[in-house]
Amino acid sequence: MRHVSVLHHREEPGMGAGVRAVLGDVSGEVAVFGSLNADLTVRTERFPKPGETISGEDLVILPGGKSANQAVQAGLLGAHVKMIGAVGADGHGDLLIESLQRAGVDTSAVQREDVATGTAIITVDSSAGDNTIVVSPGANGTVDVSTAQRHQDVIRGARVLGLCMEVSPDAVEDAARIAHDAGTRVVFNNSPFHPVLSAGLLESIDVLVVNEHELADMLKPGTSDTAAEPEREGTDDATDWGDCARRLAAMGIPSAVVTLGGRGSMVIEGEEITPVDPFPADVVDTTGAGDSFLGTLLAALAAGAGLKEAAGAASAVSAFATTSVGAQASYGDVAAVEQHFR
Ligand code: RIB
Repeated sequence: MRHVSVLHHREEPGMGAGVRAVLGDVSGEVAVFGSLNADLTVRTERFPKPGETISGEDLVILPGGKSANQAVQAGLLGAHVKMIGAVGADGHGDLLIESLQRAGVDTSAVQREDVATGTAIITVDSSAGDNTIVVSPGANGTVDVSTAQRHQDVIRGARVLGLCMEVSPDAVEDAARIAHDAGTRVVFNNSPFHPVLSAGLLESIDVLVVNEHELADMLKPGTSDTAAEPEREGTDDATDWGDCARRLAAMGIPSAVVTLGGRGSMVIEGEEITPVDPFPADVVDTTGAGDSFLGTLLAALAAGAGLKEAAGAASAVSAFATTSVGAQASYGDVAAVEQHFR
């Protein structure tokens, strides 16, 4: 097992030469298949307890949805992004399409359905910046295998495909298979978390993105259609990352980025393990920060960056996304991120 040196940013000025190099030319082809939501967001001093009513600040309605967030972040960084998904024929749908288009995302594969646009009810604890989210799928529920089939040219034409689990797992698997067969790199974020993934999906994933707790759950026996392995403890600072890498490989997953909250992330490529530093941030709202991380990975990989370097850039861009309210509303382009860390 080979451990390589930590990607250090803290002692470099600004966002660092490595991150600047990755973000300097982000112009590859990206497809994102999945969800779009209007985020109905209220900030409160603390989360209510079960059965309790509390008052919050004014309601804000912001563009969100894990996949749309990824697409917007990748577009803001300069990637050529096409979004595949569905919204309703309502005002929330307009909000989402406009936000994607403002970021330069091609929305011609976003269907308008005669149902409500997907909605997320979000509470943000203003003291910690944490959130709770309940999603009502709405039009996202119309995204199925036929959607993937109808837009297979978009998937095949991209260098990288972004996927998460906010639409039908069958549709996600089909989109992943189309990409895999065409040589389009599949970056899969297991969020909202599904402990059991089909063998068909697992064999199509090129890069898995999960947090450390999700990784521990995925590595428990019986959580995939592939052969179960002996049980081990969940991840922590004493995690045997080599063992995790071997177990992911046994599931058919060649590489992964495991996010570690304030401790940065761990990049696994075959047997090579690379810790990536976090970027410091004065956190206001973490909503959509993970999707910003994903969107940056997609943009950087589509431009030909290595996974370690892409994760370093994603660390900077997603840290910036925590410093203001909302998901897409908090995302920056390269100039904004650079300015923030100067
Ligand atoms: O990851 C944040 C996103 O999760 C929000 O934008 C919300 O829409 C939900 O999908």
